[in-house]
Amino acid sequence: MIVAIDGPAGSGKSTTAHAIADRCNLTFLDTGAMYRAVTWRCLDAGVDVSDDDAVSAVAERARIEFGKSADGQTVSIDGRDVTRQIRTPEVDRNVSVVSAYPRVREAMVARQRELGSAGDVVAEGRDIGTVVFPNAEVKVFLTADAAARAHRRAVQREGGDAGCDAGAKADAAEEQQILRDLVRRDKLDSSRKESPLKPAADAHMIDNSALTPEQVVQQIVDLMEAARAKG
Ligand code: DC
Repeated sequence: MIVAIDGPAGSGKSTTAHAIADRCNLTFLDTGAMYRAVTWRCLDAGVDVSDDDAVSAVAERARIEFGKSADGQTVSIDGRDVTRQIRTPEVDRNVSVVSAYPRVREAMVARQRELGSAGDVVAEGRDIGTVVFPNAEVKVFLTADAAARAHRRAVQREGGDAGCDAGAKADAAEEQQILRDLVRRDKLDSSRKESPLKPAADAHMIDNSALTPEQVVQQIVDLMEAARAKG
């Protein structure tokens, strides 16, 4: 069973995919973390992110691995654990440029298919249902309004676990900045030529602005059961 979850930044894909992985015993594949790791590697090595060839060479050579720690999943690139470093505002600002390069995408998609080759995967990203696993048994496109998504990101950055909890607190100025960054990133991700963010024709649309994380997970588990019953 392959479950593909796509959607814009902060739509709750990670929270949802994690929960599905735990509940259904599937491998969790966070493809955004891979583009972030390449971005971090370029920034760390002083590679100019506007240089397509230089960035693509980094991506093509990169060894990206996922691991486990007490806090959840870890990601490393070329032997360095960058689990925390890939979540900084600097990586946030540069990752859309890096992930728009065709050779970067080609290298990441190949690695994603390799990681998913054993099956039983829940993968989340922007192009999972359209490009990476077009034959996924269940495809979901998760959305939420921009303000709700910015709020969740702000709470997460303060160390909270927002999930889809609209009541959690966050710094208002930071939240506004996150909202601006998020809207800018959505625009870049949706308008790029190469694998733009868009729902697969056969994706199930779920707007979770007013749903709890459990309700979203349940909807997807129901879709998985329906797919299994269909054979
Ligand atoms: O899901 P995220 O915010 O961690 O993703 C980081 C960036 O990577 C996002 O701006 C778009 C890009 N991305 C992509 O282009 N394709 C994917 N499958 C996953 C992420």
